[in-house]
Amino acid sequence: MRGKFITLEGMDGAGKSTHSPDIIKLLESKGVEVVATREPGGTALGEQLRTLLLNEPMHPETETLLMFAARREHIAKVIEPALTRGAWVLSDRFTDATYAYQSGGRGVLANKVIELETWVQVGLQPDLTLLFDVPVEISVARLASARTPDKFERESSEFFTKIRNAYLDRANKNPNRFCIINSNQALDDVKVEVENIISTL
Ligand code: TYD
Repeated sequence: MRGKFITLEGMDGAGKSTHSPDIIKLLESKGVEVVATREPGGTALGEQLRTLLLNEPMHPETETLLMFAARREHIAKVIEPALTRGAWVLSDRFTDATYAYQSGGRGVLANKVIELETWVQVGLQPDLTLLFDVPVEISVARLASARTPDKFERESSEFFTKIRNAYLDRANKNPNRFCIINSNQALDDVKVEVENIISTL
């Protein structure tokens, strides 16, 4: 049986990465093989593109194209083979991040992202997307106390407001796939919410 594809999304500082180890543990306790991966990245080439994407200034459309180049490789080498053999894939970010950051944040036309998505994904979509949502002030405050920020993490509150709105818009337009998690509550409460959602899958 084909595996399930779960993606984690949210602004920088929304806390999504904190929860992947618990999700992996929960799935493995149910006998599921889990492939945990991330974007941009997830393959040797993708990780090299990640270094460029997170550090080098570039035109917003170049950024979009490189995100999808990394994604093409990721789907071909990691995601599809895993799903086909029945493993579940947990990806820290996927295409919703491109809609949020490159289209919502940088202003790349959504139609261009749609074209690349159609080309690169050939119908592949996540079965479930957990959107970790916090007010922008919280995410910006968390980032300020974090380690050395990358190119995206150095952006302004205005940028993150656009990101958050674009993510919420994606969630509203795809209610069957998205679950919005209120990430502005005690860590244990978020954990319980996440576990309940994963269990339904
Ligand atoms: P992130 O997932 O936040 O990793 P870490 O927690 O290690 O910092 O970093 C990835 C960054 O890449 C994040 O700022 C969002 C950005 N990004 C895009 O702009 N577009 C995309 O399509 C993807 C996948 C990520």
